[in-house]
Amino acid sequence: MIDSIKETINDALYFGPKGIVGIDIGLSAVKMAEVVKEADGSYKVMNYITVELPEGTVIEDEIQKEDELLEALQRGLKELRTSSRFACVGLSGPNTVLKRLQLAGGSDEEIEDQVVWEAEQYLPFPIDEGNVSFSIIGENQGGGVDVIIGAAKKSVVNIFKELVERASFKVKIMDHTAAAMINVVEISLGDVVKGRGKTWIIMDFGAQKTNFVIYKNGVIVFFKEINIGGLTITEEIQRQMGVSYNEAESLKIQGDGNGNIPEEIVEIIRQVLDSFFAELKKTIDFWVSSTSEETFDGCILTGGGVQIAGFVESVQDLIETEVIVLNPFEGFTYNSSKISDDMLQDIASRGAVAIGLAMRSIAK
Ligand SMILES: Nc1ncnc2c1ncn2[C@@H]1O[C@H](COP(=O)(O)OP(=O)(O)OP(=O)(O)O)[C@@H](O)[C@H]1O
Ligand SMILES: [Mg+2]
Repeated sequence: MIDSIKETINDALYFGPKGIVGIDIGLSAVKMAEVVKEADGSYKVMNYITVELPEGTVIEDEIQKEDELLEALQRGLKELRTSSRFACVGLSGPNTVLKRLQLAGGSDEEIEDQVVWEAEQYLPFPIDEGNVSFSIIGENQGGGVDVIIGAAKKSVVNIFKELVERASFKVKIMDHTAAAMINVVEISLGDVVKGRGKTWIIMDFGAQKTNFVIYKNGVIVFFKEINIGGLTITEEIQRQMGVSYNEAESLKIQGDGNGNIPEEIVEIIRQVLDSFFAELKKTIDFWVSSTSEETFDGCILTGGGVQIAGFVESVQDLIETEVIVLNPFEGFTYNSSKISDDMLQDIASRGAVAIGLAMRSIAK
């Protein structure tokens, strides 16, 4: 998988039985997970915690409320009750890039030169202000190679790294959140998605954005961030109903307190999802027209959005293929002394990225 920003994983050899803590800093919450690889090769989620964040703590990749985020990280570490202080932190947003490049190929050095040349055209920042890494994903039809590059702006990397380290972690690796999600899909769904000739859409419908991936022949071939998520619904409820952020979140999730979502709220959700589905359709159409490939084997969904009533069915109507809601626990066992049954649902829908980041200790 891609190391957007790999410092060194040498220490991974000395981690012992306890792994690295995967830290996913999203708009709605900080999620932390610890995963170990068992002797039989299976993976086990040892610890997991979600610490909800106050409104607007992190917007895109900018930390707006440093103290609140630091406090959430410290609380997470305390409640996680782990002895590991090593972390793999997820990054996404406008200052990160995850992109497939089709190159002419050649020697390692020539490929590296081509990556630099191509990356310069796509990066939203000067290349010397970024960390760029790549991995070869296969040969292309033109006789060259396809690579996938992961890149992030150094200044953004450093801001996250410093804050996480102030919370007593040592940041070993940073990885794109979409790559982390794919790690979990591969373990949980295995041969359903992997293998030659298979093409799947994999989406994380979060709070501020949706990570959209096309996964083909066992690798990421296309990635896009769609700027619509659960927050878009919350903000629209705030605007149309004149309520606060917390009230809007509660109307969206709990409804009237008896589990009924009021008709006006259902209508607002529908409006936002309509614009999301229009974006989704445009993204898929773009892929289809630029590759002349039309068939998908199916779609995998994760993120808080899967809990919105009717969301999964609507995706199914649009894509007209099998839709699977990702459940990491189909591939991972878990430590039942630390993870209670009532946490499973939340982890299953919102925890995939943190789990995928935590897998990096046992790097492939
Ligand atoms: N039952 C529910 N019904 C509707 N929406 C829900 C429900 N539960 C959670 N959500 C929404 O899901 C979102 C949180 O999902 P998630 O944890 O995947 O996002 P995040 O990782 O914090 O955000 P991002 O990745 O965009 O930064 C919030 O907008 C929340 O309101
Ligand atoms: Mg997220």
